[in-house]
Amino acid sequence: MRRIVCTQWGGPEGLEIHEAADLTARPGQVVIDVAAAGVNFVDALFVAGSYQIKFPPPFTPGSECAGVISAVGDGVEGFSVGDRVLASGGLGGYASQMVISAESVTKVPDGLSLPVAAALGQSYCTAWFTMTRRMSVQPGETVLVLGASGGVGLASIDVARALGASVIAAASSDERLADAQVAGAAAAINYSTEDLKARARELSPGGVDIVIDPVGGDFTEQGLRSLRYGGRLAIIGFASGPIPKIPTNQVLLNNRSVVGVDWGAWAMHNAGDQRVLLAEVLDAVAAGTLNPAEPAQRPLDEAGAVLRDALERRLRGKTVLIP
Ligand SMILES: NC(=O)c1ccc[n+]([C@@H]2O[C@H](COP(=O)([O-])OP(=O)(O)OC[C@H]3O[C@@H](n4cnc5c(N)ncnc54)[C@H](OP(=O)(O)O)[C@@H]3O)[C@@H](O)[C@H]2O)c1
Repeated sequence: MRRIVCTQWGGPEGLEIHEAADLTARPGQVVIDVAAAGVNFVDALFVAGSYQIKFPPPFTPGSECAGVISAVGDGVEGFSVGDRVLASGGLGGYASQMVISAESVTKVPDGLSLPVAAALGQSYCTAWFTMTRRMSVQPGETVLVLGASGGVGLASIDVARALGASVIAAASSDERLADAQVAGAAAAINYSTEDLKARARELSPGGVDIVIDPVGGDFTEQGLRSLRYGGRLAIIGFASGPIPKIPTNQVLLNNRSVVGVDWGAWAMHNAGDQRVLLAEVLDAVAAGTLNPAEPAQRPLDEAGAVLRDALERRLRGKTVLIP
């Protein structure tokens, strides 16, 4: 098997490609022949050692993947060799094979391609968790999605639309906004050239109901100020780097709420609830209520370059690595 290895924390160009013996399954585990590994911004943070959870090197990055089971350990029930599955294990996905506890594996429904399955777990579970568990998005509400052409951004558009909300997408270029409109956004704000708060209030007089923020930096305060009476701001991530400080009078005014979203930690500590959440997402995909896009495909060996692209804002939508 072939895998990408982080031998020391740092930039993704330091990642190495290693060949190793094929994997075997211990009791309770399955081996997956990886068909595609989803690329997530957090993978670059794990490699840099700059995320709140730190994995000491050496490790193989890749927080999610999909493929076909090639070996099943003793005691595993419900899975057989040949099953198409997706896995979300935090690490290990950037490889041609991975071994993982069967409890972290889910069957991929018929009709869902393995590249799409590899790319949807984190982004869709985060968006679904945000809008159905941390807050409740109602039909007819207006949702402003920042970083709208990124992984979490596109999933948030799809989920908000599926819940009956109207979406305003905000992103840094017209090409990115075009992607967001294909995903279902009804209106667009180019926050490189337009004032986010002023334009959001123009598009949604009185303010928007909800802001989904995976970007951080200066946009968080502008998002907060875009909210109407009783509006909710979901803090999801800080892809732009700086962790913002916000004026709390803007939360007090108009009875707004700022809601933290830590899907990853929640999923880790509530495995049963996460299985229910993922099943809801997959059911909605099977029913055609949610429509995740086909991801861009890059060879596994380009993992370092792809993560550099993520860090330097060059990726659009989701990307998968193909072993
Ligand atoms: N809280 C949770 O449970 C949770 C779960 C998943 C992800 N996250 C976090 O959410 C954030 C987004 O993740 P993702 O996988 O959606 O990432 P992504 O696909 O790379 O998208 C990030 C978006 O952020 C925007 N951005 C603004 N400044 C940027 C910069 N300096 N560098 C890179 N992107 C920048 C980009 O859009 P524009 O160019 O249009 O601005 C880009 O589309 C990350 O911080 C991630 O760790 C949190």
